Amino acid sequence: MKTRITELFAIQHPIMQGGMHFVGFAELAAAVSNAGGLGIITGLTQKTPEKLAAEIARCRAMTDKPFGVNLTFLPSVSQPDYPGYIRAIIEGGVQIVETAGNNPAKWLPALKDAGIKVIHKCTSVRHALKAEAIGCDAVSVDGFECGGHPGEDDVPNFILLPRAAEELTIPFVASGGMANARSLVAALACGADGINMGTRFIATVEAPVHANVKQALVNASELDTRLVMRPLRNTERVLTNPAVERLLEKERALGAALRFEDIIEEVAGVYPRIMMEGDMDAGAWSCGMVAGLIHDIPTCKALIEGIMADAETLVRGRLLGMLGG
Ligand SMILES: Cc1cc2nc3c(=O)[nH]c(=O)nc-3n(C[C@H](O)[C@H](O)[C@H](O)COP(=O)(O)O)c2cc1C
Repeated sequence: MKTRITELFAIQHPIMQGGMHFVGFAELAAAVSNAGGLGIITGLTQKTPEKLAAEIARCRAMTDKPFGVNLTFLPSVSQPDYPGYIRAIIEGGVQIVETAGNNPAKWLPALKDAGIKVIHKCTSVRHALKAEAIGCDAVSVDGFECGGHPGEDDVPNFILLPRAAEELTIPFVASGGMANARSLVAALACGADGINMGTRFIATVEAPVHANVKQALVNASELDTRLVMRPLRNTERVLTNPAVERLLEKERALGAALRFEDIIEEVAGVYPRIMMEGDMDAGAWSCGMVAGLIHDIPTCKALIEGIMADAETLVRGRLLGMLGG
């Protein structure tokens, strides 16, 4: 399949893997890219620019296909060494960067001067238009269904994507709730040029996370996610567990008085314990409603090729059939 996204990133299939904290290591990024999609290493999971440089080198040893790096710009007291991470990306010869979080304008000149394509992930049309205006090459439009941070507007993809199509000139991928051929065909119909998947890629053979995490996704239904940190305007969609229910109880009890410090035990530093050790009740971890559509743990190649084959059947069989074609 050829779309503006496959052309922009020089990839075979219009499917990318979003950056994921403590999931987006070289193994997963390389597996997605080797399968013809676009794999993404999560920059900030690597604690220093030197470690990111090593991770990029590890990924390059596993694939000769294009892959990218996610840089998430967080409002935080102790700023990560962003100039250092950007240097590691440029010197590592990475061609594509997925930015997320705050407006990436400050960091764009360095990336663009190095010839890097930038896709910015955003949860609203106004932020997508801003990304287009500052010179991003594409955007990833993340609907309310998504795992991670859906923003505060709560617009699901069946509205958000066609709205993005009405307004944007640059290509965009549909992100949030994407899992299979139906997602891809629907996203293309809504005006997107491809899809971005997070949660679905965790339940794959190559995702270097504990087996408990993959099984939790297979077991979960579309009813099992919760929104946390809404009172802090830092909403995150997570899989429910006792720690999440405790966190929500604190939010209810403290109301507007809630501070980050009140919930630190349930959210800070929990990713290594969950993703690496499989301690599923350690705290809140991002997960999309799409968990309800995850029933197996395939290889990235089987997943991506299955989506592409089923999409063709869906278009040629079901859709063309409806037209009598
Ligand atoms: C476990 C997990 C960790 C994530 N970490 C990040 C991150 O560090 N930076 C980022 O930009 N997005 C992050 N995301 C969001 C994904 O890149 C992607 O936008 C989202 O998962 C899409 O929704 P889906 O899960 O319904 O496919 C994360 C998502 C998950 C599930």
